[in-house]
Amino acid sequence: MKTTAYLVEEPGGDFVAAEVELEEPRDDEVLVRIVATGLCHTDLTVPTMLPQEMLPTVVGHEGTGVVEKVGAAVTGIEVGDHVVLSFRSCRECGPCRAGDVGYCEQSLLLNYMGMRADGSTTMKRGDQTVFGNFFGQSSLARHALAYADNCVVVDKSLDLARLAPFACGFQTGAGTVLNVLDPAPGESIVVYGAGAVGLAAIAVARGTGVETVVAVDPVGARREAAEAYGATALDPTEEGAAPVEDRVRELTGGGATYAIDTTAIPDVVLQAQRSLRTRGVLVALGLGAPEYTIDAIDLLSTGKIVRSSIEGESDPLVTIPELIALREAGRFDVDHLVTTYPFEKIADAVADSRSGAVVKPVLVWGE
Ligand SMILES: NC(=O)c1ccc[n+]([C@@H]2O[C@H](COP(=O)([O-])OP(=O)(O)OC[C@H]3O[C@@H](n4cnc5c(N)ncnc54)[C@H](O)[C@@H]3O)[C@@H](O)[C@H]2O)c1
Ligand SMILES: [Zn+2]
Ligand SMILES: [Zn+2]
Repeated sequence: MKTTAYLVEEPGGDFVAAEVELEEPRDDEVLVRIVATGLCHTDLTVPTMLPQEMLPTVVGHEGTGVVEKVGAAVTGIEVGDHVVLSFRSCRECGPCRAGDVGYCEQSLLLNYMGMRADGSTTMKRGDQTVFGNFFGQSSLARHALAYADNCVVVDKSLDLARLAPFACGFQTGAGTVLNVLDPAPGESIVVYGAGAVGLAAIAVARGTGVETVVAVDPVGARREAAEAYGATALDPTEEGAAPVEDRVRELTGGGATYAIDTTAIPDVVLQAQRSLRTRGVLVALGLGAPEYTIDAIDLLSTGKIVRSSIEGESDPLVTIPELIALREAGRFDVDHLVTTYPFEKIADAVADSRSGAVVKPVLVWGE
């Protein structure tokens, strides 16, 4: 079928609207008419890393929409269902069978290679191959092909534009708190970077009863958003102030039990490690810098743990419904973090995301 997709044609290039030919769904695929797609920082980072031979590509991995066609082998999804599209996993390998779908042995192939697992591609512009299948969706488009393993069917009464970030950014931040850290109410969390991922972590931590949450971000509006959840917010650029890690240690009575980094800035990751108490845990979630420096003496002498996580150890088919239920119960209050843009304004959405003017841009198709 013919549809519209936003292509990236060169590494780090702009998103350009184009008419493309999308293949009919195969037996294991579903065709989704996209309603709204969130922009995640990863959509901006990955195209800068791709070689020219994997371009043009269509990214977008926080898609939502309405199912239009269902392949013969797909069960549990019907035409007309409303779905949130998250990341793919094979559901058969060792990590998948253990429930660790983020660490699926096929993850690279299924999410990042721009093609189906058998090497075929799904999209063309004229005669030119367009690399799709990003996270089993490439949802910066009017239509997407998705799979039973990454489609979460949701209630039709829910606003899909608000749910789009549950596919990645919100799931990652909240999943890190719920699945990785599982804090007790008396424990403390410091979050470096109060963007979409960081604020989702703060929202769910406060919503599930963690008393002491500290947020660190140089952008005033982001600190205010963190404070609205009852977090204490610090400006790392404040002139004349003590080092950030000292301020965090003071606010948390000797160091935070848990730290989450969403900045991917090496110096900030080091600050995050140093702001932990003995046996504290740092989860460095960012994608950006290829290497971090760890304070080896501090690590050795305190028994701290420094780790990362794919999508907050979530299985989207489990975690997204859990987060939707928490949202319904008023304990995961994230709707106001979303700013919607018509798809044609994608350049504004990117600019506002980069500048920090909005927390989570979500692109919406008009009728
Ligand atoms: N691990 C995963 O599975 C996963 C999933 C989604 C996103 N990510 C990554 O998580 C990161 C965060 O994504 P996002 O969408 O929230 O991005 P974002 O840009 O909205 O958030 C980053 C925040 O860091 C703040 N910041 C910048 N310098 C800082 C400093 N010195 N100290 C403290 N804060 C500082 C920025 O002001 C911004 O608010 C990205 O690197 C993204 O690629 C990882
Ligand atoms: Zn697998
Ligand atoms: Zn993402």
